Amino acid sequence: MSISRRAFLGSSIGAVAITGAAPLQAGQRHRRIPLPDPMRLWDLATPALVADVDHLEANLRTMRDAYAGGATSLRPHAKTHKCPVIARQQLDLGAVGIAVAKISEAEVMVEAGIEPLLITSPIATRGKLARLLGLARQAPTLQIVTDRLQNVRDLSDGASAVGITLGVVVDLNAGDDRTGIALGDQAVTLARAVAGADGLELVGVQAYAGRLQHVVGWEARRQQYTETMSEVMETVGAIRRAGLDVHVVTGGGTGTYDIDREIDGMTDSQAGSYIFMDDNYRDIGGRGGPVFDDFEPSLYVLATAISQPVDGRITVDAGYKAFATDKEPPRLRDIEGVTYRFGGDEHGILELSSPSEPIAVGDKVRLTIPHCDPTVNLYDHLHAARGEQVSEVWPIAGRGRSQ
Ligand SMILES: Cc1ncc(COP(=O)(O)O)c(C=O)c1O
Repeated sequence: MSISRRAFLGSSIGAVAITGAAPLQAGQRHRRIPLPDPMRLWDLATPALVADVDHLEANLRTMRDAYAGGATSLRPHAKTHKCPVIARQQLDLGAVGIAVAKISEAEVMVEAGIEPLLITSPIATRGKLARLLGLARQAPTLQIVTDRLQNVRDLSDGASAVGITLGVVVDLNAGDDRTGIALGDQAVTLARAVAGADGLELVGVQAYAGRLQHVVGWEARRQQYTETMSEVMETVGAIRRAGLDVHVVTGGGTGTYDIDREIDGMTDSQAGSYIFMDDNYRDIGGRGGPVFDDFEPSLYVLATAISQPVDGRITVDAGYKAFATDKEPPRLRDIEGVTYRFGGDEHGILELSSPSEPIAVGDKVRLTIPHCDPTVNLYDHLHAARGEQVSEVWPIAGRGRSQ
């Protein structure tokens, strides 16, 4: 038995009281919550989502340094962390703004005083328009993307009716075929419509090539991405030749963070996952080799071994409700010779083929995160750990905000 991984009974009862917390109270959602007494990591109630703060801060600094002094800035995407405490740190380290996926994420960030914000998905209903306009009145720097002429008319009517000027970014289809107007003439027409619409200001364009973020191998990724972005830049040129100002060319993500910097005309990167660095990203390879290790894995789930019905396996209390993944299952962070497989909604099964350390019922294990964004969305709190000590909880205030 590894005593360091085992909770002491007395303190673990305390831990349940503190960290198995009830839903967050209003006013608590946006700031760090200090624990009355710092806790040992191994005493947390599980499954618990834990941020290794030393690694997270290293990632913040690496990204800041990568973009320092260049023509391209950072507009980190908060869809990854949904956490105002982290967004604040990103802004403090020089980010030009924060990207959010949906109106509801923007609402949470505005409540927390996080600005300026860009909403990176278009809206299509009256209800969302009403929420957008309400929010834009509170946060005049709020911007949103558009990819349809009818949407431009709706945004314009709404903004004029409430007497605001709304910043609008034309969303270009950079090949994902997910959102965005076609490159070329259609994009120019849309940009012209935004620029000429009452109540709207043309800010620039968004070109997010999500399908290229996880291309395996840095050279292949760079080549495909550079080709796509040069097509995007042709359209940007055409919009400018039509006499329109394009102040912002935004897009990109963690997989292309060091390629976006090289793209002439790109004003900012929307990298999000770098803050946590999940397994899916580590596996794509970096400039230096088969592991993309420019950023540290700073997020993990702490789980407890709760049962051992058969030899050679042990069951932990973290299953589909503890991890969201579209590819591989989680991995053991500290112990080799053990593989995790999902054992249902609440359980995971560790196959103990040749464990480098024994695992007994009652022990805690740290599991890696296959895909960070949807996993974070399963938790109310991030336990901020330095080494093996937890002294703060960071609310994931945007958790469940996918509207
Ligand atoms: C529009 C947009 N921008 C940026 C990102 C951030 O990308 P990543 O998490 O890969 O850094 C995403 C992620 O899905 C996105 O949808």
